[in-house]
Amino acid sequence: MYNAAMARVSVQLGARSYDIVIGRGLTDELVAFTRSSSPASAVVVTDATVGAIHGDAVSLALGARRVTIPAGEQSKSLSELQRVYDELLAPGDLDRTSLIVALGGGVVGDLAGFAAATLFRGVRWLQVPTTFMAMVDSAIGGKTAINHAGKNRIGAVHQPAAVFCDIDYLVTLPEREYVSALAEVVKTAALSGRPMLDSLTSRADAILRRDAAAIAETIEACARFKARLVGQDELDASGHRAILNFGHSLAHALEHLYPGRWLHGEAVAMGLCGALRLSVERAELAPADAQSIIALLLRFGLRVDVPADLDADAAARAIMGDKKRVREAIRMIVLREPGRADALSCRVNGDLLRTLMGPRDE
Ligand SMILES: NC(=O)c1ccc[n+]([C@@H]2O[C@H](COP(=O)([O-])OP(=O)(O)OC[C@H]3O[C@@H](n4cnc5c(N)ncnc54)[C@H](O)[C@@H]3O)[C@@H](O)[C@H]2O)c1
Repeated sequence: MYNAAMARVSVQLGARSYDIVIGRGLTDELVAFTRSSSPASAVVVTDATVGAIHGDAVSLALGARRVTIPAGEQSKSLSELQRVYDELLAPGDLDRTSLIVALGGGVVGDLAGFAAATLFRGVRWLQVPTTFMAMVDSAIGGKTAINHAGKNRIGAVHQPAAVFCDIDYLVTLPEREYVSALAEVVKTAALSGRPMLDSLTSRADAILRRDAAAIAETIEACARFKARLVGQDELDASGHRAILNFGHSLAHALEHLYPGRWLHGEAVAMGLCGALRLSVERAELAPADAQSIIALLLRFGLRVDVPADLDADAAARAIMGDKKRVREAIRMIVLREPGRADALSCRVNGDLLRTLMGPRDE
């Protein structure tokens, strides 16, 4: 078993800097951090599934009460947010020095983080991610949101005070959820460069067996990469952070057109494949580089081809609905070589769609 010292990755944001702690059995660390920040009260926000498995241990250790939301994306709603505000505020034990602890995947992180951003004009919060997806991506960077008239349309950037990635939580994570996160890991490796792609390739089998050391190293590499971008472009304003959207235009279109059919990461794998084809065609990415990244997605068991019944016009409309739309053109992230990504303005037309959709296997 993996018993190496925990890793710490710092997100450098001046007075709002914080650490991402990665390791096993981090509850004592979480308790020590919470005590040292002397909150008036601490409340754990979790979902029903995570709460049933891990909620008691965390609430007891922190001496914190618990607010539970239903598991799943539908909880990122105004009505659920209102219920969470009510449950947070009703006992009257919260004030500006309180601490909200988001224990769960990206849904809990986004909802609890938004509540923390808005209660008392902002209270401190901790991210305790329990999905692989949240550990490698969503718990880092302070973006919080709910869905309303579209995905993540109401939100705020509110950095957590710390992130505790305790990989012991991943033991109970269903396989499909675990594997889907690997699409974001492959995306990060492609954006990071050959060293991360090579080490991910060499660790692929260990990651698939859920070897703790391989998981911890993977989370650390992803956290380092995202922390650097967030430090450069916290508010997603200068374009540095936007490269994280690599593969996401087609992925969002697929999620929109086939609601509930794929997990986000599964859609991202298909989106990445399209974005790699576009990169070869319009950004001189070497076909061999694209192939090796696609091979990694396949090795992780991710599907890379969009379904044969995907309608190109519907996909174009869905892509145009994307937040990155600029009139008829859309800014697509392309890879010039591993480690070098760019934004390219592309007209949304048949050529773009043919490239993104590529060959279809059904
Ligand atoms: N804020 C950001 O920067 C950012 C980035 C990417 C994604 N997101 C958001 O994250 C959300 C997706 O997050 P997710 O993939 O973590 O999904 P999720 O939060 O819905 O969790 C997936 C499922 O796994 C269960 N689960 C979580 N941890 C578990 C564990 N340890 N054991 C057993 N079951 C467990 C949950 O109850 C849920 O049913 C989306 O809403 C997306 O918009 C946010």
